[in-house]
Amino acid sequence: MHSAIAELPLVIIRRDGDVPMHCQLSAAMRGAILRGELAPGTRLPSTRALSLELGVSRNTVIAAYDQLYAEGFTEAQRGRGTRVVSPLPEVVLRLHRVSAPLPSGDVRAPAGPGGSTGGWLATHDPDGPLAFSVGVPALDQFPFTLWSRLAGRRLRQGARELFDYGDLAGYPPLRTAIAEYLGIARGIGCRPEQVMVTLGAQQALDLAARLILRSGDSVLIEDPSYPGVRDVLDNLGVELIPVPVDGEGMRIQDGDRTRPARMAYVTPSHQFPLGVTMSLERRMELLEWARSADAWIVEDDYDSAYCYGGRPLPALHALDTSGRVLYIGTFSTVLFPGLRIGYVIVPAALAQEFPGMRPSLGGSPPHVLQAALCDFVRAGHFAQHVRRMRGLYVERRSSLLNALARYLGEVVQVVHTNTGMHLAGFLPEPLDDACIAAEARRHGVSVLPLKPLYIGPAARPGLVMGFAAADRDAITAGVQTLAAVIESMGKGL
Ligand SMILES: Cc1ncc(COP(=O)(O)O)c(C=O)c1O
Repeated sequence: MHSAIAELPLVIIRRDGDVPMHCQLSAAMRGAILRGELAPGTRLPSTRALSLELGVSRNTVIAAYDQLYAEGFTEAQRGRGTRVVSPLPEVVLRLHRVSAPLPSGDVRAPAGPGGSTGGWLATHDPDGPLAFSVGVPALDQFPFTLWSRLAGRRLRQGARELFDYGDLAGYPPLRTAIAEYLGIARGIGCRPEQVMVTLGAQQALDLAARLILRSGDSVLIEDPSYPGVRDVLDNLGVELIPVPVDGEGMRIQDGDRTRPARMAYVTPSHQFPLGVTMSLERRMELLEWARSADAWIVEDDYDSAYCYGGRPLPALHALDTSGRVLYIGTFSTVLFPGLRIGYVIVPAALAQEFPGMRPSLGGSPPHVLQAALCDFVRAGHFAQHVRRMRGLYVERRSSLLNALARYLGEVVQVVHTNTGMHLAGFLPEPLDDACIAAEARRHGVSVLPLKPLYIGPAARPGLVMGFAAADRDAITAGVQTLAAVIESMGKGL
């Protein structure tokens, strides 16, 4: 019988991936046991020794060992440490026996940040929002009866043009309604022909990037950044140039000037994930950069409807005088994400190109739903709902801030901002935000770990917490759960 770190196979733990580190470690050890590299009876290294060896927290190793024990791969005896079970039970072997290989072929999983995750959308909870699902509005407050009346009327009317493929750029009256709304709410001057209705902001990002970029191009991207855009850019094979973000937004002056970029992606109203608002000065700098670099700016204005301290700053699109900004918006954050309706305002020079790209992507979202949405906007329900939600989110946001101050005041350093539907908070090193998020999810609480959202070396651990989808009691209970998880993870550090 033997024990040694040396006998462990090479374990490479990715810190920037979506798979929690303890899962990566247990998977690596499970594989080594099944391949016979860790023979039955082998004593595993102590959790302390292995955590030092791998440079991960001891809790990560303990969680991985617990998992292997639960699966029947190891046994622990007082004073004798943890060993690989000898012999391995047949039931364990049968469960993990390698099945016949899948047909070979050039199948490529979509790359997500840090690996093949299936993308950002796939990270959402399939059974509905939890406290603190990010990007999800108050579904409990949406007027579904009214909505189903409007949608039902459109379905019953059976107008032929709504049941055909329809205009590839979107239902024309909705495009007009969006152009008018943006003029009033965001000071954006655009013609309805420049409005392309898309399958959420996600498809708008995809279309914009495909139109502007070619494989091998470079893109300036906020660091940390929105995982949905990284899905798109990774799939296009472009090079990302991370640009740090501070309290005034993207520090464009600190971007790598040696590599010419063709596009910059920004979230100026409410930086995703940190939540800061880009100052007017930075907006002007960014527009100036685009002019001098002959580049495009993609402005993702995903939740600007929620500004809690006066009027929001003008959108980049409204400040742009050279037609270089593609402006993206979505109904996901105001109505409900399952609607899958967003839009992109394209500069007049590109407006002809867009519809031509649509057929291969399946056209625009169902026109019958676009028509119902248009009715909802035209009858004033949209504006009314935004007003009501703004009031509600002020309350939910302060419930979250109060609960964080009360239960996690010593641990979470909140980034204070006055817009949007989520807050970010930094955690002290060496707390492992991905592990905390994974453990919290097991307890029914959804938070987004901050560190994997960074590309560059300045990554800091933290949590991103949506406050719109849960009521006050769920918020308080959620923070208590988080505090318990963090406390249990913090032990032994
Ligand atoms: C930065 C950002 N962009 C866009 C979206 C919305 O995407 P979609 O309209 O595809 O639901 C979100 C939602 O969370 C977001 O956080």
